[in-house]
Parts: sequence; C-alpha cells; structure tokens
Amino acid sequence: MSENKAMYVGIDLGTSTSSLAHVRPDGNPEIVPNADGERLTPSVVFFDRFEGVKLVGSAARNGGDQERTIRHIKKHMDDPAFFVEIDNEKWTPTEISALILSKLRKDCSKIIGPIEEAVLTVPANFNELARKATVTAGRLAGLRIQRIVNEPTAAALYYAHTQSVRGRVLVYDLGGGTLDITILEIDENNVDILLSEGARHLGGSDFDEILTDLFKQKYLEQNGRELILDAAQRRRLLAVCEETKKRLSKLSVVSEVIGNREHVPGEVELTRADFEEAIKRLLIRTIMLIEQALDTLALTPRDIDHVVLVGGSTRIPKVQELLTGKFGKPPLSCGNVDECVALGAALFARRARQVSEVCNRSYGTLAIIEDALTGIGKVRNSIVISKNTPLPCSMTQTYVTSEANEELIEVEITQGEDHDPRYVDIIGRITLRVPPGRPAGCAVTVTYSYDENQRVRARVYDEISGLHKDIAIEYEGPGVLNESEIERKSAYLKQVKIA
Ligand SMILES: Nc1ncnc2c1ncn2[C@@H]1O[C@H](COP(=O)(O)OP(=O)(O)OP(=O)(O)O)[C@@H](O)[C@H]1O
Ligand SMILES: [Mg+2]
Repeated sequence: MSENKAMYVGIDLGTSTSSLAHVRPDGNPEIVPNADGERLTPSVVFFDRFEGVKLVGSAARNGGDQERTIRHIKKHMDDPAFFVEIDNEKWTPTEISALILSKLRKDCSKIIGPIEEAVLTVPANFNELARKATVTAGRLAGLRIQRIVNEPTAAALYYAHTQSVRGRVLVYDLGGGTLDITILEIDENNVDILLSEGARHLGGSDFDEILTDLFKQKYLEQNGRELILDAAQRRRLLAVCEETKKRLSKLSVVSEVIGNREHVPGEVELTRADFEEAIKRLLIRTIMLIEQALDTLALTPRDIDHVVLVGGSTRIPKVQELLTGKFGKPPLSCGNVDECVALGAALFARRARQVSEVCNRSYGTLAIIEDALTGIGKVRNSIVISKNTPLPCSMTQTYVTSEANEELIEVEITQGEDHDPRYVDIIGRITLRVPPGRPAGCAVTVTYSYDENQRVRARVYDEISGLHKDIAIEYEGPGVLNESEIERKSAYLKQVKIA
C-alpha cells in the first residue's frame, strides 16, 4: 500500500457498541461496517465452549449461555483487580476490550484494507489507568495507536465538519454507560475544550435496569402475580427492556408478552410517561451536572451557542425536552448520535483540525501544610495543575524543606482532586539527592508539564544547589502491563479465533 493511501481510522470503543470510521478521499468520514454487515458492533464477547471461538458483536449479544457472555466491560477499565474467569482462564478488561478491537481491525482489513494507524476514543473523565488500559487493548489487538482522544472532542469535530457548528458549544453525551458534559469553543480551525465533567455510571444500561424493575411492577399490577426470574431470565428481560426502551422513544405506549417457568405468559403495557417518570431522577442529575459545569465557567445557558447531542440515549424524547427547557432552544442532533464519536475520531486521525484539550484530572504532590487555626502541620495533597487547565500547560509550585540536614528530597506525584491524601492516586515519585548540611526551609520547586498527548513530565529543582531531576510520568501500578507482557499477550491473542 502506498504512503498516501495509508489508512488512518478512528475507533469508538463504547460501553454498549463500538464502531470504526475512516476518512474518504473527498475528506468526509465514513463508518466502515463490520463483516456482519452492521455499522455498530455490540461491545459483547461470547466465549464459545465447543471450539474456543470468541464471538464479538451481535452474534455474542443475541443468545448463548449468559455465564459465558461478557458485556459492558468498559465500566471496569479503571479497576486493576477486575477479571472474568471462563474455563479456568482469567481475562482482564484490557484483554476483553482487545478482543472487541481485534474484531473491528480484522473486519476493516477485509472490507477496505489494513489499518495503518488508529485513534481511539475514551470518555473525557477516564483516569490515567483506564486510558492506559485502552491504549494497551489497542496494542494487544495488533493496532498502532496514534493517540487517544476524548469522546466529546471527537464528536464536536464531527459536528463542526458536517453541520458547520461554531461558537461556544455544550456537548451532551449520554451513551450506554457514561454521561459526559463538555463545554468547548469551535472556530474555523480549532476546537478548544473549556471544561469536561461527567458521571461515570449514568447511561442507557441504568435505564434498562430501571425499566426491568418497572416491568416487574407493571406485570404484578396487570397480571395479578409476580414475575419471578432467575439470573438468566433476568438478563433476557434486560435485553427485552432495552428494545422496549428504544421503541418508547418513538411510541407513547408499547406492550410486551413475557412469562417465566412458573406461569403462562402475561402481557405488560408500558407508557412512555411511566418510563420517563422512572428515569426522571437520573435525567435531572444530568441537568444538575450541566448547571455545575456552567457555574464553574461562570456561564449562563444563554452563553451557549449550541447544545449538541451525542450517544444513543439522547434519542429519549424527555432528554431533548429537558435540554430545550434548560437552554430555551432545542439541542442539535446529527441523527447518527451513536456514530459521531468514531466519525470525529477518523477526522482526528487525519489531523483535519487543530484541537486543544484540557487536563482531565488534577496533578499535585504531597506536602505538609499547616492548619491556619491550630498551627499543626498535616500531610495534604497540594495541587500543582488543576483539572480543566488547557493543554499543553506547565505549572510550578515552590515548597520548602521541613527539616535540617535533609539529603534526599522525595516528591510524590499525585493524581486526583482531593486534598486528603487518602483519596488520590500516587502515580510517580522523584528522589533528588542534595548536598549535606543544609538548614530547614530550603526552596524546592516542582514543575509539571502536560502535553497535548496527555503525557505528563515532572521536574524537581533545588534552588540552592541548582540540582534538578526530570522524569516522564508513566502510570505504573497494578493493572498496567509492561512491554514484554504486552508482547507476550498480543502473541497469544493473535492465535485466538475471533469471529
Ligand atoms: N432510540 C433509542 N432510545 C433510547 N435509547 C437508545 C436508543 N438507541 C440507542 N439507545 C441506547 O443508547 C445506548 C448506546 O449508546 P451509545 O452506542 O452511544 O453508547 P456507548 O458509546 O456504547 O456508551 P458510552 O459512550 O457510555 O461508552 C444503549 O444503552 C442503547 O440502549
Ligand atoms: Mg459513546
């Protein structure tokens, strides 16, 4: 394949569905369907018992032993202790995600050719571990990862490209598992993120759970008996409820016939109003998060030029109604709300536009800070770069040594917003040896710099001696694979039969 035909793709690895897009020669992005003829691949993996095949997509989602079916793995990407065990083999969220990405890569190669490089998307509020895990999943799947991009940024690029959206924009992304609220500015050449907020576990799969409970309640009311389900039946009902939920975005009343082993099937009638009432609490939470985001930037709804919709769950009419009420005008929908992240990521992969992002978490260091009232010193997390600082950025804080004769200056690098050290992650450490015989109170500066690729560097500088030390912060710790583990695992995954 010649250089200018090299294929750069964008991949949205979603909680419920994943998709892959490339940019056509005319400059417009396009979804590449999978080899099953679908534009969206359900992010579901089924571990076949007979031939050891790993089914990914609709074939995995629709049917099969539920015990061998893995869904919503993205919810666990930040959990180093999580794994699933099937046939005495342990699979981490990274490895399960790699199976999904392998299917997308293989299908794409069959349909439009091999992939040169990929841009992967992640929720804006993914932490360092989850970002690392996503990149590793891509590498295990045999992809060269150009970079990762926040999902709302990718979606905003798509809206800017297709609908000429410009100005101050609020991206409301309600998908299968997460809610992301992002406020950004788009002009002819740039997308600048001003702020990103989110709720980790708020999305379509929560609505499915709520609808399942509503279903059981209505079943009892309408059939005069309880719907008692075992775990497998409940999962089937969950799948039915997801379809019911989608129909309720178009119809105001639906009915389903459902039964269990003990009883003859019964009919359940559900209205859109019942459903919307049941999920109202969660929807209002999404509006509260918008208010919080606007407050942080000292903006009012009137300062927002456009609200744009991203994520399949924004098809729920109540979502659009609440946003219209809040902003005094209806939000914009591109229609393919579940594809626009992958399409935007493809534009990104072709570097169609300059995009600047913000720091997704705060970075700091542990320091002894005196209580203003009691004068007692306590170890606190002192923030050096605050969350939502535009990237690239570089920030410096000066500290003083607390004891005389200190020869080793130890700086612990933290990630997290809390001032209490118990609630932040230690993601790195720098030790700087300084000359002996110094008094207490020597100034030491700590500088963190964060580039557009979300790479962080830290520098410690001792003012008296002029000595300094510089390191790249690589998130290491439980759940992060090293190079040789990546190589070994990707060789193993290459042999796995994925269909
Ligand atoms: N017409 C519809 N009405 C209501 N919900 C819908 C509709 N279409 C899709 N959904 C829901 O949208 C969710 C999937 O959206 P999407 O594919 O954007 O999420 P995702 O990208 O997988 O998740 P995330 O972005 O949270 O990782 C599912 O919960 C699905 O049931
Ligand atoms: Mg999504």
